[in-house]
Amino acid sequence: MKESKKQATWAPQGRVLITGATGVIGSWVAAGLVERGIRPLLLDQRADYSLLGSLKDNVDLVVGDILDWPTLTRVMLKEKVEVVIHLAVLMIPAAQANPYQAFQVNAQGSINVFEAARAAGSHRVVWVSSRSVFGQFDGEFGHPTYRPVDEYHPRQPRTVYGATKLAVEAMAEQYRRIYGQDIIGLRFPAIYGPGRLQRHGAISLTSRIIESGLAGRSLSLPDGGDQKDDQLYVKDAAEALVASAAAPGPTPEPVYNLGTGHPVGLRDFAAAVKAVAPGADITIGPGLDYVKMGYTEYAVLDGTRAARDLGFVPRFDLPGGVRDYAESLRALGLKPLG
Ligand SMILES: NC(=O)c1ccc[n+]([C@@H]2O[C@H](COP(=O)([O-])OP(=O)(O)OC[C@H]3O[C@@H](n4cnc5c(N)ncnc54)[C@H](O)[C@@H]3O)[C@@H](O)[C@H]2O)c1
Repeated sequence: MKESKKQATWAPQGRVLITGATGVIGSWVAAGLVERGIRPLLLDQRADYSLLGSLKDNVDLVVGDILDWPTLTRVMLKEKVEVVIHLAVLMIPAAQANPYQAFQVNAQGSINVFEAARAAGSHRVVWVSSRSVFGQFDGEFGHPTYRPVDEYHPRQPRTVYGATKLAVEAMAEQYRRIYGQDIIGLRFPAIYGPGRLQRHGAISLTSRIIESGLAGRSLSLPDGGDQKDDQLYVKDAAEALVASAAAPGPTPEPVYNLGTGHPVGLRDFAAAVKAVAPGADITIGPGLDYVKMGYTEYAVLDGTRAARDLGFVPRFDLPGGVRDYAESLRALGLKPLG
């Protein structure tokens, strides 16, 4: 990845706080900050260091809940937090099963973070939205053409998770307008990376393919082999967040689409695994829609504006991402689950 001059010399005066920091993406954001010589402040409701590996001595972890606004504000004031990278979330299946709790954590929790940042005088909040705000992708945006989707595509979420992210997008725009707060949202496509299978279970089909292959276990999926999607490697997602924290601001857009620009399918994952584990026995039947959510949320996101304003371009192609996934599992001491 090309680093802009600004990112290369980024040296925040105050602390950088990551919420949801022990999760799949947060762990790599912490790693990216440590690499830049920054000691991040981590906040998560679980003190689980399993995805942080050897970083444990280079970070400070506060066990806390983003719904506890007074504590959040106290921590941010005391630690002089300059930038917040806000990731804490209730993911898709849990959100669908419990809409009220999803609204609390994803929507109210994000507003708590915006308010705490305001009270603490933080300069910037970077938070993660999702392509789920768009809902179903039809016509030229769907199979087989996958025309890249830009920031101004109509937002019509089909899930509770997508609805909560849309609510935060709308409120973030108000916070920018009313208080002049420097808030940037990033819409990610599907993410693959170590830890997803452990943390997100069955929705991580790409992790099942990779880890089955690495574990030497056969995997046969009956269908879905013709479906393509935008798959961003977790280290690229983390780098995008760090680049956004460091980018000159305020940014012209309140929210950016991030993606690879290249549709890939499950069979591409199988081929990439075979390059790392030649004995991998993975078969995938034909057809579309392997997630089976009842609508099609597969699409490629157009990252042109993110490249222009945030200086972010993905570094990993699929073979490179899968190779790094295997190495990272080993480095973290995690057994492939498959
Ligand atoms: N993984 C993906 O495919 C994907 C795709 C698009 C967007 N995103 C977004 O990226 C962000 C990070 O996702 P992830 O994959 O790392 O998720 P994750 O589930 O691995 O991590 C989320 C973390 O948030 C913590 N958390 C949950 N509720 C909390 C609360 N009330 N207070 C404090 N901590 C709490 C959890 O303990 C967990 O460690 C989320 O905003 C998510 O919506 C993820």
